[in-house]
Amino acid sequence: MPEKLSFEFLLDPEFSRNPYAAYAELRRSGPVHAVDFPPGMAAFLVIDHEHGRPALNDPRLAKSIAMAPERFRERVMSSNPALAHNLLNSDPPDHTRLRRLVSKAFTPRRVEGLRPRIQEITDELVDAMAARGEADLIDDFAFPLPITVICELLGVPSQDRDTFRDWSGTLVSPALDEGQVRRRQEVNLAIRAYFSEIIAERRAAPRDDLISALVAARDDDELLDDQELLATLTLLLIAGHETTVNLIGNGMLALLNNPGQLRLLLDSPELLPSAVEELLRYDGPVERATFRFAAEDLEIAGVPVPRGALVHISLGAAGRDPEAFDAPDTLDIARTDNRHVAFGHGIHFCLGAPLARLEAQIAFGTLLGRLPGVRLACPPGEVVWHRHGSLVRGLRSLPVRF
Ligand code: HEM
Repeated sequence: MPEKLSFEFLLDPEFSRNPYAAYAELRRSGPVHAVDFPPGMAAFLVIDHEHGRPALNDPRLAKSIAMAPERFRERVMSSNPALAHNLLNSDPPDHTRLRRLVSKAFTPRRVEGLRPRIQEITDELVDAMAARGEADLIDDFAFPLPITVICELLGVPSQDRDTFRDWSGTLVSPALDEGQVRRRQEVNLAIRAYFSEIIAERRAAPRDDLISALVAARDDDELLDDQELLATLTLLLIAGHETTVNLIGNGMLALLNNPGQLRLLLDSPELLPSAVEELLRYDGPVERATFRFAAEDLEIAGVPVPRGALVHISLGAAGRDPEAFDAPDTLDIARTDNRHVAFGHGIHFCLGAPLARLEAQIAFGTLLGRLPGVRLACPPGEVVWHRHGSLVRGLRSLPVRF
């Protein structure tokens, strides 16, 4: 462990392969750690549940990039100008209005209505894998399921999914050098052109899809403007699949590495809902990718955090905090009182959580029900982490046999 944490260290594949062991070591010297961040700005990492959870809902810790120091802000905005209009990156009152409007279109009824189609897509993917006797669970299952669902929910052709995969891979990878920043700019322009055309089409001829519902969402006669629509669609496209891919991938790996728990789930499918919550806690997809900017000087766990500082809150570390969870490093699919923060907490709590839970329950239930002999096709230490950089935690591939 280095004397002072650095951004490079946190992005290092070695750290990302098993961040939980590093968190356990860091925890001995406190819950809040200063991090060296490239542009010379103050940055901190919060690794416990007691301070991490309230920090996610602390109005002094803002999401808006407007709160970041100028150099950092310019760098981020140059590659992603739509960022300021997206609900995940805004604060009240803008966030309140955006969330209300998006919630009007993205309703629990719309999500529940997807159930039969999610089951159908899952069955088709499992049929194809079963016929071959082996598969890469990421490429053949964990990726195509949520991307097909989000395409159908939004109302965009699922043939475009490889393009979306490429775009979202670029947007969730760190953009540290000029080439990566340029690539992000290109992708943002391409997304803008793609969705602008579809928005115009739906405005002229609405369909029964989420894009049409977002175009029509109205609040005291105020609609989402085009910038906000584009930013919302980009967010839904990326948040709607990158994370769920990793819940299915990380979750299956956790079960395969814990055969007793896998057997328990096979024997007791009624445990599926609590198993999904436990997999979210044990090795959730977002891990470290939640950040805030200090809108004023403040203290977290007695550590002074200056105005403008970047504050990363590790949801993964909070989920393994022994003060908050009994035997936190043990996978226990029957765990009760599981107060994990894998979907965040407070006003930015994941809007897609009901959809993610539904997809994951159908995915694990169907996969294990149909292919109960599923096993790893490589030694456990050889699975490759690090799908895109290392902020979002996910596997590049997961070879299995049945
Ligand atoms: C916000 C996790 C799936 C849409 C968030 C946040 C987390 C999260 C941690 C809050 C970030 C913060 O506070 O900084 C996850 C996980 C998922 C998942 C672990 C899957 C297992 C989805 C899906 C969708 C979605 C399927 C949509 C189709 C959103 C949106 C927000 C959000 C729109 C912003 C909410 C706001 O700022 O008010 N998600 N998410 N997510 N998520 Fe998810």
